[in-house]
Amino acid sequence: MKPLVLISTDVANVPEDVSSALKPLADVAYVKAPYDELLGEARALLVGGDKVNEEFLRKAPHLGVASRFGVGYDAVDVEACTRRKVYVTHTPDVLSGAVADHTWALILGFMRRIPEADFIVREHWAKKDRRLPFGWDMKGKTLGLLGLGRIGAEVLKRAQGFDLDLVYYDVMKREDLEKLYGVRYVDFDEFLGASDIISVHVPLLPSTRGIIGDDALSKMKSSAVVVNTSRGQVIDEKALYRALKEKRIRGAALDVFEEEPTPLDNPLLALDNVVLTPHCASATWETRRGMAEMAVGSIKAFLEGRRPPNVVPEQRGLSF
Ligand code: DGY
Repeated sequence: MKPLVLISTDVANVPEDVSSALKPLADVAYVKAPYDELLGEARALLVGGDKVNEEFLRKAPHLGVASRFGVGYDAVDVEACTRRKVYVTHTPDVLSGAVADHTWALILGFMRRIPEADFIVREHWAKKDRRLPFGWDMKGKTLGLLGLGRIGAEVLKRAQGFDLDLVYYDVMKREDLEKLYGVRYVDFDEFLGASDIISVHVPLLPSTRGIIGDDALSKMKSSAVVVNTSRGQVIDEKALYRALKEKRIRGAALDVFEEEPTPLDNPLLALDNVVLTPHCASATWETRRGMAEMAVGSIKAFLEGRRPPNVVPEQRGLSF
């Protein structure tokens, strides 16, 4: 009997001509949560947003690899997986460019009021009954990158043509990028006080959860725009809402939310100083296909008896 591979993302994300690479080695089933009855047999799992925790793993005694479709693996309990000798893999690098492009789409979308401009052309321009308020220049602004890993670095690369002052805050200094792109390391308080645009590129960890909360928001300039393409929980959404509603900061452009999909009654949705997208920063044809190939490739290597590539850093050096 062939081992069973479960794919819990849909075929739009992992097309069948990509997952077919597993067919000579395994039976492949696309599943939608809940899929508990199949977990008992599963040897490998390609996982989208489902939580892979102790309770989940208890139902999957034969699981050998959880291949996360995405770079962030905060929904996967890596310690529990390691205890049970389950590899955790993810898809780094392949999506950095797309996420950086989307970050810039959000920055420019907010600064030049693109969603509102589109609406005015469709509904008001010809009737001359509503004008588009002015936007803001990029030139002379300070762009602050909160987190300067792979995605932050791509955002920084794209920032070079805009005549910006560039600062960053991270737990690690990146002297290579400082030299290459003229970005300055500053401490967190200086970062908050200096930036006109704060773009968030940290993973969700206990140390980053809620890092943009009341205190951080109170240290920002009134011209600050908070842009988030990382994880919603890095920002205290209620605190952000209050700061935006009271116009203590200029705005926000968000691709990620504390709860996803974000509920229609989220008060952020009623504000006019926000630009919002539905966690789609990596959603391009090329990038999603690249992610699918990488996630499937990790499972294939495992089924062939090799240590999968793209194992998460916490499992570096471990072989099960
Ligand atoms: C990622 O790669 O982690 C994206 O946010 C999609 O989950």
